[in-house]
Amino acid sequence: MRPIINPLGIRGHGRIHRTMTTEERILELRQQLHQHNYNYYILNQPTVSDQEFDAMMRELQELEVQHPELADPNSPTQRVGSDLAGEFETVMHQRPMLSLANTYNKEEVRAFYERVREGLSGEPFEICCELKFDGLSISLHYEDGHLVRAVTRGNGVQGDDVTANVRTIRSIPLQLHSVTVPSGSPEGTWPRQFEIRGEILMPWTSFEALNREREAREEPLFANPRNAASGTLKSKQASVVAERKLDAYLYYLLGDELPAEGHYENMMAARGWGFKVSDAMRKVQTLEEVFAFIDRWDVERRNLPVATDGIVLKVNSLRQQRALGMTAKSPRWAIAYKFQAEQQSTVLREVTFQVGRTGVVTPVANMDPVQLSGTVVRRATLHNADFMAALDLHVGDHVLVEKGGEIIPKIVAVDSAFITPERGPQVQFIQTCPECGTPLVRDEEEAAWRCPNDTGCPPQIKGRIEHFVSRRAMNIDTLGPETIDDLYARGLIHNVADLYDLTVDQLSGFNDTRIKSARKTIQAIADSRQVPFERVLFALGIRFVGETVAKTLARSFHDIDTLSRATLEQMLAINTIGQAIAESVIRWFADMDNIFLIERLRSHGLQFALSEEVLSAQSDRLAGKTIVISGVFQHHSRDEYKAMIEQHGGKNTGSISAKTSFILAGDNMGPAKLEKAQKLGVTIMNEEEFLSLLADNNE
Ligand code: IVH
Repeated sequence: MRPIINPLGIRGHGRIHRTMTTEERILELRQQLHQHNYNYYILNQPTVSDQEFDAMMRELQELEVQHPELADPNSPTQRVGSDLAGEFETVMHQRPMLSLANTYNKEEVRAFYERVREGLSGEPFEICCELKFDGLSISLHYEDGHLVRAVTRGNGVQGDDVTANVRTIRSIPLQLHSVTVPSGSPEGTWPRQFEIRGEILMPWTSFEALNREREAREEPLFANPRNAASGTLKSKQASVVAERKLDAYLYYLLGDELPAEGHYENMMAARGWGFKVSDAMRKVQTLEEVFAFIDRWDVERRNLPVATDGIVLKVNSLRQQRALGMTAKSPRWAIAYKFQAEQQSTVLREVTFQVGRTGVVTPVANMDPVQLSGTVVRRATLHNADFMAALDLHVGDHVLVEKGGEIIPKIVAVDSAFITPERGPQVQFIQTCPECGTPLVRDEEEAAWRCPNDTGCPPQIKGRIEHFVSRRAMNIDTLGPETIDDLYARGLIHNVADLYDLTVDQLSGFNDTRIKSARKTIQAIADSRQVPFERVLFALGIRFVGETVAKTLARSFHDIDTLSRATLEQMLAINTIGQAIAESVIRWFADMDNIFLIERLRSHGLQFALSEEVLSAQSDRLAGKTIVISGVFQHHSRDEYKAMIEQHGGKNTGSISAKTSFILAGDNMGPAKLEKAQKLGVTIMNEEEFLSLLADNNE
């Protein structure tokens, strides 16, 4: 059945009609907000002001809070994202997500065209020409016009269920055609069930703004919009995703009942249902037209709001696509033509060396400024000693600089056209740390040279303090990198224990305007004494001890003294602790400086043991059990169940296998999972059964 289109402006918004029930008002607001989203994010033609939009959104939010029974995951309010952190569930793709074969020149495109002609025994065919968007591919599933699932490409066979995050992306419709599309868009109803694939992208403007913010906070920059989009989509907090304006273009419709026999026609229909389909898409008949499309977009792509890295060519007829079929990796009916990365020649003046927070030294080329893909480039990374040596660089060389998918330009070669017999001196990798003078050591694992002076080298010291105060560690987030830099320069902090001796006067430097923020920071430092042991352990910045490892170590050894005495064997006996982690922990505790540091922190009252509460809640009731969580729960959140499993010694994993001990199943467990569980004979336990299993133990 076709939903009733409710065009805007027929009913007013902002007031509750006398005859309207709350439920009707909620439905009306949702419908109107979906329409406004569409107008704004797909058509780029808003019809109401931001204030009006916000007022409607607030009204809807309030009504939804008052009426939780009317909640709907596809409500426009869900676009703001919740803070519920959750591991992503791994799910099988209904149809594998293949990739495309790449070509790099027109001859290869011609060869593709000829292969298709032969494959179709000379039958006429059409080609759909599209932009190749450089983002992350996503598979969206719709049922009865509602978005039900969004899955990343993963390995092509299975991916991560990122539905909650994807719901925050404004240009992805949560429900179809409850919006009014512009006249002229093809009409028609969507199949009851279908999949649509496309690319999630971070527009250049959002990417640049995000990196500017990160630079100000001295956080590592994203190399390109694709990485930024990927990092964002994998964020555990949907609210972070909502903040970082992502966009999406759709380019592939799949299902058993599609509206048309042609790919292009299907995409136009999808556009009519409210999806964002690129205006650049064209259907052509000849190879000459294909080349014209390539030439046009190789230039015009520079003006697009999002990154593209080529052109995709697809045989338009679905029947012909089926006739051509697939190879193991990619379809025979489509191909990607990749744009050449832009290159320029310039002169190498000097190579400088940067020391990172972990002591790794990175060589950086400093060059005469050169214009490249819209920006002026002066510096390029040389990655590491091996990369640099392979280039055989001499000061004064003309070098070819390229900006491919990466934002940080790289030197690809010495420009041989300019090599003269009397070249400048060959560039050598340094042997001592440029920051502290310590002889560098080779870290074979990372193919890097590293400054071993971790307790005396300024960028390393500051980096460790920054890590210690970060939100997920001690959460003293009022202490930014600039302040740390300043305190270090003034000789007030040299290690993390010094933070606990700071005074308001020292922090403010007796500057009245800074007193308020200094007080706040001192309070945050004091509060950090309550941070639980496992986070303190993470905050110490022991190599390879991330959040999860810290948690495991804390749960296994209970306090820092026991941990500091743990042997290699004891650590390796823990399921998820490997050789590298165990050795790193032992090495850390063997260093007397670290022992002194812990003693000082302990005297300041930091938590170096699991709390009684956590300890008493702990058991080994689920020891050795591997448990899969699936579905929606009534009594606790998915995260709480995960924590419970860990607390009782069990292991939570994402996918069902013969090793799965049982499945903790809520409502709406996926049919594929159910089938697999039954096939493998894995026990399915409901919430109540699971809770009573743990309760038994506590008695
Ligand atoms: S069609 C079987 N169309 O390129 C065909 N892909 O290597 C499936 N991509 O993983 C893909 N723009 O992430 C298609 N207009 C477009 C595309 C596109 C970008 C990406 C996609 C895919 C990769 C192929």
